[in-house]
Amino acid sequence: MILDRIKPLDAILATAEKKSLHRTLGWFQLMLFGIGCVIGTGIFVLTAAGAQKAGPGLMLAFAIAGAVCIVAALCYAEIAAMVPVAGSAYTYSYATMGEFLAWTVGWALIMEYAIAAAAVSVGWSGYFSGTFLNELLGVQLPPWLAAGPLALGGAPGGLINLPALVIALLVTGLLVLGTSESAKFNAILVAIKVVALTAFVALTLTSPEFDTAKFNPFLPAGIFGGFGTGVGAVGAAATIFFAYVGFDAVSTAAEETKNPQRNVPIGLVGSLLFCTVFYILVAAGAVGTLGGQPIMGPGGIPFPAGSEELARQCAMPEHAGALVCSNEALAHVLREIGWSGVGNMLGLAAFLALPSVILVLIFGQTRIFFVMARDGLLPEKLSTVHPKYKTPHIVTMLTGGVVALGAAFFPVGKLADISNAGTLYAFMMVAIAVLILRKRDPERKRAFRVPAVWLIAPLTIVGCVFLFLNLPIDAMLFLPGWGLLGIVIYLAYSRGSSHLGRGIIEVVDDVAGEETQVPIHPPHG
Ligand code: ALA
Repeated sequence: MILDRIKPLDAILATAEKKSLHRTLGWFQLMLFGIGCVIGTGIFVLTAAGAQKAGPGLMLAFAIAGAVCIVAALCYAEIAAMVPVAGSAYTYSYATMGEFLAWTVGWALIMEYAIAAAAVSVGWSGYFSGTFLNELLGVQLPPWLAAGPLALGGAPGGLINLPALVIALLVTGLLVLGTSESAKFNAILVAIKVVALTAFVALTLTSPEFDTAKFNPFLPAGIFGGFGTGVGAVGAAATIFFAYVGFDAVSTAAEETKNPQRNVPIGLVGSLLFCTVFYILVAAGAVGTLGGQPIMGPGGIPFPAGSEELARQCAMPEHAGALVCSNEALAHVLREIGWSGVGNMLGLAAFLALPSVILVLIFGQTRIFFVMARDGLLPEKLSTVHPKYKTPHIVTMLTGGVVALGAAFFPVGKLADISNAGTLYAFMMVAIAVLILRKRDPERKRAFRVPAVWLIAPLTIVGCVFLFLNLPIDAMLFLPGWGLLGIVIYLAYSRGSSHLGRGIIEVVDDVAGEETQVPIHPPHG
């Protein structure tokens, strides 16, 4: 039977216990960590794509995506506090639904982390070229070096997005050398981002340009544009969901948290609530000043964000300056309403802070690959640790190379949508895992219990499926296509080489850390 290999929870918990990190983190540190991972390209760049899909209804889109993430976060909080080892949703699934489904989750997490890292690199590139090179240094990058080709959804005249490629490779280099984010550095970057967004909200909402008439019509493409169309408020929610991705990284800090029962959910839900409110205010400020109506195509349906047609429309003089056409949406809004200097400062803030989001995402990806390789599901060579830097350098370089290629040739919106598809699958599986463990192992100690779990977990599942179905059809189809490839690899390689399949249970905690090997049938003396 393909669903028969389940990793015993006890073996996982034994490792976690052995490690027993000092519990030092409080809810505030967790929130800072969460906000640091979450605020990035989603708000700084995809605001434009969101407005193209929903118009002023972008505000509603932020609320919908935020709500789905908050219920998912509660599920993460329960399972992360209970199974506090590396590998996130992949490890939780291994312990509940077995190897095959865990493999599909690990495989989907590649979409979440690696493709998201590519998306954030492209987002960064917009601010690098627009604010840093153009506004501050007065240098214009030739269009063919600043964006991917039109054929893949990039800008007209684009061939390769060189800045995005370079930043992805630079971050990869740092990771190979063993850079990880320090709490202090993260706090500084969070402060930079929050100050930039606060300035944006304050200046736009009090600007003489702000006019409530600009919110009319509020839902030019309706609430629901139809499954697979990617338009309307829920279509925008499915894209803008990207702005919340990354909070699951907080769950990995569960075992280092004081009083996790209280602090993990406060940290997770708190950072998401904070971002949700902030994002809605930012959307209100952008739309209320610059206007955020989509550019409509035939039949009164917005041109798809990131499409060739939209790129052509944006090149026309009548759309110059439109929010939906900007590569650096928030800086652009401030410049258009007479705050060029502050707009450039905001652009600089994005330029400085986005690389740390790329770092967290590539780091997360390498750790998941690492754990999968240690489980024997991927070639063990991938888990080789560099003798000097003590980092999994092979898997890091491999991941970084793929991220850089994705970033060089694809537009941010497409990458974000594909990443969302994988993330939504992983979130759904985590909610299912929580329910399975409640049934199968009701007595086991849980540092945090989801309140009303039979309501919250099913809501998470429904929310994830619903957002998934509202992604553009190509992003949606990417998941089964990618999944099929994953299943072929699983059957051809991983199932045979799996350590669990061969009778060894290994629990990996971190790269340089402990590893526990437990034979399935302990020899009797
Ligand atoms: N949530 C992260 C961002 O928006 C991935 O950049």
